[in-house]
Amino acid sequence: MDSFDAVTDVLDYPMFVVTTASEGHAAGCLVGFATQTSIDPPRFLVGLSVNNHTYRVAREASRLVVHVLDAESIELARLFGESTGDDVDKFVRCSWRPGPDGVPVLDDASAWFSGMVQEHGRFGDHAAFLVDIDSAEVRRKPSRLLLLSDVADFDPGHEA
Ligand SMILES: Cc1cc2nc3c(=O)[nH]c(=O)nc-3n(C[C@H](O)[C@H](O)[C@H](O)COP(=O)(O)O)c2cc1C
Repeated sequence: MDSFDAVTDVLDYPMFVVTTASEGHAAGCLVGFATQTSIDPPRFLVGLSVNNHTYRVAREASRLVVHVLDAESIELARLFGESTGDDVDKFVRCSWRPGPDGVPVLDDASAWFSGMVQEHGRFGDHAAFLVDIDSAEVRRKPSRLLLLSDVADFDPGHEA
């Protein structure tokens, strides 16, 4: 709907990189569809495009890690937003260490949190993953968060 597109065009919000792993296979992509849904228990919703490699891995996975990025981490965002795990191994192109349940935690993220996937379901061209947060770390306060307006000209690895 054109009028809704016009409204979303004026929105700006933080971007995240979401990683996951299943049977030793890691995946991750740049995500804008993401929001906290509960304070107690702490829960967060992540929207993954059903076209993405990350969605196909996440569907079989038990856990997601959500990374908060500083605006300076734009090249990390580009890696996860413009390339697809269908073609490249993103995890040989960035530095990371195994986090909870072995899911990659990216070294450059200024903060991250993780949790078990409580449920997921398809609600259109994206599927929503509800995460029950059980671990989190702030490494440094971002001087400025990476926003949609910083990455709006990226060419996504998969069309939504
Ligand atoms: C501005 C922007 C916002 C995006 N938001 C999302 C999102 O909310 N959910 C998602 O699954 N992909 C989103 N993407 C697309 C993926 O990050 C992109 O297609 C990525 O290359 C997919 O990688 P994969 O196939 O390895 O999972 C976004 C991309 C851009 C450039």
